[in-house]
Amino acid sequence: MDTKQLMEWSDKHIMTTAKRNPVALVRGEGVRVWDSEGKEYLDFTGGIAVTALGHCHPRVVGTMREQAATLLHVSNIFYIPQQVHLAKLLCEHSFADRVFFSNSGAEANETAIKLARKWAKEHGGSDRGDIISMRGGFHGRTLATVTATAQEKYHHGFEPLPGGFKYVPFNDLRAVERAIDSRTAGVLVEPIQGEGGVYLPDDGYLPGLRKLCDEAGVALIFDEIQTGMGRTGKLWAYEHAGVAPDIMTVAKALANGVPIGATLATEDVARVFTPGTHGSTFGGNPFATAVGLTVFTTLLEERLAERAAASGRILVDGLRAVQKKHPTIAGEVRGRGLLVAMDMTAPVGDLVAACRERGLLVLTAGDNALRLAPPLVVDRAEIERGLEIIDRALEACRR
Ligand SMILES: Cc1ncc(COP(=O)(O)O)c(C=O)c1O
Repeated sequence: MDTKQLMEWSDKHIMTTAKRNPVALVRGEGVRVWDSEGKEYLDFTGGIAVTALGHCHPRVVGTMREQAATLLHVSNIFYIPQQVHLAKLLCEHSFADRVFFSNSGAEANETAIKLARKWAKEHGGSDRGDIISMRGGFHGRTLATVTATAQEKYHHGFEPLPGGFKYVPFNDLRAVERAIDSRTAGVLVEPIQGEGGVYLPDDGYLPGLRKLCDEAGVALIFDEIQTGMGRTGKLWAYEHAGVAPDIMTVAKALANGVPIGATLATEDVARVFTPGTHGSTFGGNPFATAVGLTVFTTLLEERLAERAAASGRILVDGLRAVQKKHPTIAGEVRGRGLLVAMDMTAPVGDLVAACRERGLLVLTAGDNALRLAPPLVVDRAEIERGLEIIDRALEACRR
């Protein structure tokens, strides 16, 4: 199919919710993808932190083939072996005791909000329903999760927004202390703000939130949809802070691109969900959870979190060196593991286009930052090649 024709049809028939790169990707292998014209790219977007194992990982492809030919979908009115095994594995490798499976990050966060409210009402009092979230955060596009996303630009035109949400600045414990009251059900935070610009928590921030939540008897919810599954150099980003939440949400990389969401919780909190209180038709179906099981097992066996930590250091050091060469248009480099950003003073869109033209796909974040989230299997040579392209692209943007 002619690419120009495809883009015209897309512009005509698809609702315009995304600013698209002018390429149609048709094939992938590891960290590389090819467009409809046969051009090859290094994919440092990772499908926005999704394809942790890279494209078409043989074990993932094998599981998909086998499960699709065995049993795709039943319903949660039956026991689903793959779902049970994935839940057990997630619990064995986290703070959690129980899991609820859904189909996306937003749905996992919706579940977390409902769970925190129900738990708070049963334990703290019927008034408890408010969720406190952080300015600059991102939690999804459904009505509740977009309201939890404390960035007005995502709200415009969708009013009336659901009630029961309060916003405080990120990294400000005093503000959380002031905001918690007798109506608070939970505090929702990303352990690193991803979409907002890859902002890290100050030392002591997450432990401070844990303490405030414990004192007030409210649930601490970590949104690890972008940071989880080894991306930051540990399996879960909360491990860097040495504290655990009561509820955690996971999605993106959990099935390497097959839609899935998961809400994990301690027994004490999870207990408030009883038959009929919550549900999802597709959530946790044999296909998605079989793939999730293969992805999670592979991630553990291949020690990809450790690999992300080591690769992340190479990437950040390299990016800092590149930034020093172009200080008039590139600013701070920050990140953890393979979630990395660099502020730009020149329009980041120009840099994205210049990288793409040279065979590297990259993301943006926040107001004007470059964001890199390559597959966790990226190797040193690929990182060096990516850095070389960014260097040349910055050079082109400066001219
Ligand atoms: C931290 C965080 N939470 C929630 C979401 C929403 O996930 P989804 O797009 O799968 O609904 C995202 C997506 O970027 C995210 O980064």
